[in-house]
Amino acid sequence: MRITDLLPATLFRDKTVFVTGGTSGINLGIARSFAALGASLAICGRSRAKGEHAAQGLRALGGEVRCHVLDVRDADALLAAMEQTGQDLGPIHTLVAGAAGNFPCRAEDLSPNGFKTVVDIDLLGAFNAARSAFEQLKQTQGNAIFISAGQSFMPYAFQAHVGAAKAGIDQMMRDLALEWGPHGIRCNSIAPGPIDGTEGVKRLVPEDMRPHLERAIPLGRFGTVEEMGQVAVFLASPLASYVTGTLLVADGGQNLPGSGIWTQALMRGAGSGN
Ligand code: HXC
Repeated sequence: MRITDLLPATLFRDKTVFVTGGTSGINLGIARSFAALGASLAICGRSRAKGEHAAQGLRALGGEVRCHVLDVRDADALLAAMEQTGQDLGPIHTLVAGAAGNFPCRAEDLSPNGFKTVVDIDLLGAFNAARSAFEQLKQTQGNAIFISAGQSFMPYAFQAHVGAAKAGIDQMMRDLALEWGPHGIRCNSIAPGPIDGTEGVKRLVPEDMRPHLERAIPLGRFGTVEEMGQVAVFLASPLASYVTGTLLVADGGQNLPGSGIWTQALMRGAGSGN
């Protein structure tokens, strides 16, 4: 089902949405959902080629699109891109802070720089994005959506760096919701489960374990980027006008039984014989 079968195609007309990491995967799926509902889009990522390809696909949905090549660890570059976005497309109404990095690795084998790299991309990058968007979100009475993960609240083997980063994101989201509520800005997180066709699934899920993993998910399947787009659109829309400080888990129930079976998959993914 297309999102325009569910919601009016004008829902985000005259609204600007900025998506970090919006050049691929879940973040691009989210960007596409907003574009289909009339939003102007700005996306950013580190690869020019991926960015241009993503922007072309978004433009085909009808709206204005800008692509910025930058690393979310570079706060100055992010601020400049957001200011440019405000001038080009109008002030940002929704920030989606989705840029992330992940690889499975035993904690004892993970270098301090490996740990720091993931925390810097995910957590510091999300802070840089929120801080850079603040003035515009205040102007639009807008909202920020942070892309978290089950690793935020459920321990997973070989994911100490990711768990630390995602838990940090969710607590920061609550702090920002508290501080920025009086400015009319709502802040929420989404914790996606395994989403088909994404880099995260490619890195973390060995293909031969997939049927086994699917059976362990209460809803019996991996999710789609379109479904993550639906959740983001809900949080950014007037339907969620009284929702702030919330972690919305959209994982088909994946985390309800715990992470045991996923830990086996991660160990396989990291090449462990255990
Ligand atoms: C151990 C590793 C490693 C690996 C990198 N490092 N890959 N350590 N195992 N597989 C270490 C390096 O040795 C180095 O430490 C440090 O990490 C930095 O590596 P760089 O390659 O210099 O970093 P950088 O170029 O910034 O790349 C960041 C990256 C990379 C995270 C390492 O994989 C990346 O760009 N990823 C972006 C795409 C991505 O990961 N998407 C998936 C997101 S999924 P030393 O000590 O050697 O200097 C997601 C959802 C999670 O987040 C939930 C899913 C269910």
